[in-house]
Amino acid sequence: MIAKKQSTHIESALSEKRVFKPSKTFSAVANISSLEQYEKMYKASIADPQKFFAKQAEELHWFKKWKKVMSWKAPFAEWFVGGKINASYNCLDRHLDSARRNKAAIIFEGEFGDERTLTYQQLHREVCKAANMLISLGATSGDRIAIYMGMTPELVVAVLACARIGATHSVIFGGFSAEAIRDRVNDAEAKIIITADGTFRRGSVIELKKNVDNALLGTGCPTVEKVIVLKRTGTEVMMSSGRDHWWQELMSEASATNECVALDSEHPLFILYTSGTTGKPKGIVHSTGGYLLGAYLTTKYIFDMKDEDIFWCTADVGWVTGHSYVIYGPLSNGATIMMYEGAPNFPDFGRFWDIIERRKISIFYTAPTAIRAFIRAGDEFPKRHDLSSLRLLGTVGEPINPEAWMWYQKIIGGGKCPITDTWWQTETGAIMIASIPGAIATKPGSATLPFFGIQPEVVNKEGVKVKANEGGFLLIKKPWPWMLRGIYKDPERFKMQYFTEFPNIYFTGDGARQDKDGYFWIMGRVDDVINVSGHRIGTMEVESALVSFSSVAEAAVVGRPDEIKGSALVAFVTLKSGSIGSEEVKSQLREHVAKEIGSFAKPDDIHFSDALPKTRSGKIMRRLLRELASTGNVKGDTTTLEDFSVLEKLRQTEEE
Ligand code: WT7
Repeated sequence: MIAKKQSTHIESALSEKRVFKPSKTFSAVANISSLEQYEKMYKASIADPQKFFAKQAEELHWFKKWKKVMSWKAPFAEWFVGGKINASYNCLDRHLDSARRNKAAIIFEGEFGDERTLTYQQLHREVCKAANMLISLGATSGDRIAIYMGMTPELVVAVLACARIGATHSVIFGGFSAEAIRDRVNDAEAKIIITADGTFRRGSVIELKKNVDNALLGTGCPTVEKVIVLKRTGTEVMMSSGRDHWWQELMSEASATNECVALDSEHPLFILYTSGTTGKPKGIVHSTGGYLLGAYLTTKYIFDMKDEDIFWCTADVGWVTGHSYVIYGPLSNGATIMMYEGAPNFPDFGRFWDIIERRKISIFYTAPTAIRAFIRAGDEFPKRHDLSSLRLLGTVGEPINPEAWMWYQKIIGGGKCPITDTWWQTETGAIMIASIPGAIATKPGSATLPFFGIQPEVVNKEGVKVKANEGGFLLIKKPWPWMLRGIYKDPERFKMQYFTEFPNIYFTGDGARQDKDGYFWIMGRVDDVINVSGHRIGTMEVESALVSFSSVAEAAVVGRPDEIKGSALVAFVTLKSGSIGSEEVKSQLREHVAKEIGSFAKPDDIHFSDALPKTRSGKIMRRLLRELASTGNVKGDTTTLEDFSVLEKLRQTEEE
């Protein structure tokens, strides 16, 4: 199952010698102010995780205290068993009897320049109304509700309204196609979809409702009873009578008083679909109590969150980063979040820097792929702006190359901001390995040390810990409160996917090495998942999409290193006899993938070939294709190839 993947990142990382100590000014006022303090807390968290997390969990509001901190029936974990909690209450209600009541919860800017600020009290009011709106449409605790919206405050309102009534939300990224919506909505058996007429991106409108209509066509989604449509762009949409309702109309009728439902700590807060190595996307299920604790604690300590901070995580709420660091983490800490609807390069590459300057953003969290795009766009964009409000920078989603790290530190951070490189996954729920900025010295390209209660280990195929600086597979040895609780409706797949390669120990799917200081260096995926611009894409999904095109017989998709995107997608395609590969077919195939999954999954390169290289047992030789895709050169043992000429032909097309 495990295929070793080459990594260019690791070569530069191995020779990386620079170390940046936390600055005295930062540490002096930090939530964790020294390495000693981090080590003391870390040791306590490992020696007795239940005691440690029970103490931390007291910082959240519980309607009823838990009976048991943890139960572990491998691979199924439960945390704060018997406790009653509500995530919406923790993000809103509990801030209302302090000065936070009138503090901004959300500062929003739309792509075309409209702006809005919602205080905690105002956000609470909106969420209460939305909760009542959902109840009026028949939603209740235990239902699933799909959310397919742009990055406007109503998306946060929708998420927290679901959490408030105990409906499990499943946010679908606005870049997904109708087909992808259908798969996810059907798997989750969602009763309601909350969407918008559209959202603005790069100066045009993405017609969200139209995609939902196509997903529901001829009732492609039989469980869906109601669709709520936010009027955002004014785009003309079709409203199906009885099924579709305008957000604004329902909200104007809804009462602003709503009592939170006290939910079991283990109540499923959300399902989020993510790509795996096989089959359809997996519905990753997260709990309420344990997940919220993770989002809360990591925000407090890794982002050193203070009441005065204005925090901007640029991720879309359609991905887990947006769940944990646009919504649950910062709001449970009572912080102010920045929310921006559109693209980073619209109208030009200065957009983010302009927002940081005007809004006095103090903590900024983005992806290496964005940083690399900014580097390419040129320093003149950030240099036109005063970025001195920044005090901390974060990165997430893929390994950051040391050059990009240095640029981020110097040009965006003005040389004074610490950088926290945060490693985690949809499955882990919240950050797992990252520097705590007032305590841990950083090395460009390393995610540094584990967060409290997290025990990562780098092992070989046999599960034996490897030596310092040796590469291996990254495992998490013990259960943690914010770990996934399962794959929706598929416990067998959950076991197989994460706890079988190394029995009853969570396997991340990533390769890593640990240096002699104990620092972790993530090498990237070792399975058939590819990280393209921080978007996680399963090669299988793109292959199925390609094969569903009428003239395609067979397809194999691999990654190749790309300067900006981290990895690019390369497809090798065999057409059915009688069909001829041409530029036109290539563009049809790209469009087809966009239709089946979403534009972000379109292959960057497509190569046609008569057949694909296979082992005698019929397995596609992906390693060969990967090498070919990245170097145009195939080395290594090819004697098990069924047909040598295939490789020759592939090589020729590459050379053309
Ligand atoms: C995969 C998870 C959860 C954040 C968004 C992505 C890669 C994530 C880092 C990092 C190196 C990273 C891993 C991981 N990844 N953060 N700081 N350094 N690699 O979530 O879509 O579930 O993807 O992203 O390969 O397995 P995701």
